Amino acid sequence: MKRAVSGVQPTNNLHLGNYLGAIKNWVELQDQYDSFYCIVDLHAITIKQDPKVLRQNVLNVAKTYLALGIDPNKSTIFVQSQVPQHAELAWVLNTIAKLGELERMTQFKDKASQHKENINMGLFDYPVLMSADILLYDPEIVPVGEDQKQHVELTRDLAERFNSAYSKTFLVPEPLIKKEGARIMGLDDPSKKMSKSATSANNYIALLDSPEVAAKKISKAVTDSGSTIESGKDKPALTNLLTIYSLLSGKTIKEIEKEYTGKGYADFKKGLTATVTEFLSDFQAKFNALDDNEVKSILEEGNKKARAIAEKKMVDVKTKMGLI
Ligand code: TYM
Repeated sequence: MKRAVSGVQPTNNLHLGNYLGAIKNWVELQDQYDSFYCIVDLHAITIKQDPKVLRQNVLNVAKTYLALGIDPNKSTIFVQSQVPQHAELAWVLNTIAKLGELERMTQFKDKASQHKENINMGLFDYPVLMSADILLYDPEIVPVGEDQKQHVELTRDLAERFNSAYSKTFLVPEPLIKKEGARIMGLDDPSKKMSKSATSANNYIALLDSPEVAAKKISKAVTDSGSTIESGKDKPALTNLLTIYSLLSGKTIKEIEKEYTGKGYADFKKGLTATVTEFLSDFQAKFNALDDNEVKSILEEGNKKARAIAEKKMVDVKTKMGLI
């Protein structure tokens, strides 16, 4: 079976962008791919974290995966820091990664400008650790949102560079980025992506927002000029809302446009609110029903499975480099 690998950072609240750009696709892939879905806590610490909150967030992300439909009988759910080979391979890859290529990473530039007081080496090296997360498992595909494309391209370059220096060791993976939902935009500003670290909470709908809060955010969401419910390049706000509506309801954008012919924004937002709140209520009921101890034992199992593969790969890497 071909393999898929991806991950989410356990920082703040996960939002609809994380679901529609990534996790929703993971759920669909788990029947065709041997899937490894990681909670990347070593990535999270590149921004200062409160240890207690981080520990809780790791558990919450695991619960989120499960409540969104990741099935632990089909997919491996695990925690990055519990598989020491991630950090070990990152060090090895550091020796072939170039300063210049890391300086070009747009996420680094964005985060460095947001956290001027803490531009640490980890933040700079973040994409190399992500490459290690991927290459340890030889996946064919890496299902992510658009913002991670550049990191997967770096991963491919590092795999090819290592293979040509030390003989074929890593599979060169492809990013899997769906056209719809790859870049869900902020509700308060459709020119910027929906982001956990946005300054205004009106930017995103968190998966744990109460239906009332979500409804308020949708009512405040910016819209475009004009009054018809249509997607288009000149209507970025409406196109974004239509994309969310479509992906959550299973209706195509065309079908939704037809449904709202002759109607205005108020009706459209009412329909969108009903769709979003139904999704959130269902998700939150599943999330709240999960038992902490059961989730922890699912993670233990996953860590073990991931470790077995990562250990083997690291022996291969070290042998080829003369490290044993
Ligand atoms: P993170 O935690 O920022 O985001 C998790 C996933 O959600 C996607 N995403 C979005 N998709 C559409 N629209 C949005 N507005 C939006 N915001 C976020 C991201 O593209 C991502 O797929 N570096 C990664 C985590 C990571 C990883 C990995 C991913 C670490 N190692 C190995 C894949 C493979 C990150 O920070 O994602």
